[in-house]
Amino acid sequence: MSADVTDEFPVSSIPAANVSSVPLRSPLRYPGGKSWLIPHLRTWLSQLTERPKIFLEPFCGGATASLLAIAEDYADHASMVELDEAIATFWKCVLERPSELCNLIESFDVEPEAVDELLDSSYRTDANRAFRTLIRNRTSRAGIIANGAALLRKGENGRGLESRWYPQTLIRRIRDIEPNRHRLSIQCADGLAQLKKCVDQSGVVAFVDPPYTIGNKQPGRRLYSHNEIDHEALFETLSASDADFLMTYDADPHVSELIRQHDFSAARVEVRTAHASIRSELVITRQPIFA
Ligand SMILES: C[S@@+](CC[C@H](N)C(=O)[O-])C[C@H]1O[C@@H](n2cnc3c(N)ncnc32)[C@H](O)[C@@H]1O
Repeated sequence: MSADVTDEFPVSSIPAANVSSVPLRSPLRYPGGKSWLIPHLRTWLSQLTERPKIFLEPFCGGATASLLAIAEDYADHASMVELDEAIATFWKCVLERPSELCNLIESFDVEPEAVDELLDSSYRTDANRAFRTLIRNRTSRAGIIANGAALLRKGENGRGLESRWYPQTLIRRIRDIEPNRHRLSIQCADGLAQLKKCVDQSGVVAFVDPPYTIGNKQPGRRLYSHNEIDHEALFETLSASDADFLMTYDADPHVSELIRQHDFSAARVEVRTAHASIRSELVITRQPIFA
């Protein structure tokens, strides 16, 4: 990260959450997941002057924010959008066929041959395709489901493929979503197009966490199958609307430039990575909240 980004924005008044101190509700172990942002999300949602009718998450991935908004009752409805069809089908199944998915989880033995066979199969039903996505997510390194991601052959503590497979925990998370499933929806679509379409409707707020594919490092490029985003248009869409939003990006001079250009506010959060290094992320809002 360049020195100018470090100096330019103040350190957030709220630190990144330790993931052991916040509720983990998503069955997916998502690369770029935002569990560390939960205290920021709560603070932002609590200070809104009107209760949102729709909490829009146009790049939902593991959907940490939508699940929080509904489970903790900050909004009437969460509208999740995801372009990756495998991920969108997974959420569709969690919302529409939770029992089928839970039965598949319950009855699967995570053995290398069974995992290889499952990942190579082509399935027609949503439940089977959703289950295959879950297995890929929980048995690949860092949860990456994009093509070419390696499997956790050694895993943690020598537990191999099983090291991130906790069937009862996954079933509990899916069952915990079930009572609120009519307040969540998923669309397989382009997040920016959906944002443009909905952001000016009354009662909409947006949590925007796109793949980080702007500037020098572009960490989002290897993590997701879909990662081409028109970042300038994303900033412009938010700037042209009155809707409240919270957006995150990696700290990068190109992002700083867009923040300045649109007169947004940003605060820096130091986030510990899976490899125990520290990286800076920016939490961006229309008005200062964390700075
Ligand atoms: C940084 S991740 C979101 C992580 C999420 N906030 C979480 O807590 O798990 C970005 C997501 O955007 C998705 N994506 C990429 N391009 C998209 C597009 N044009 N429209 C919708 N989703 C897109 C990726 O597949 C990925 O799941």
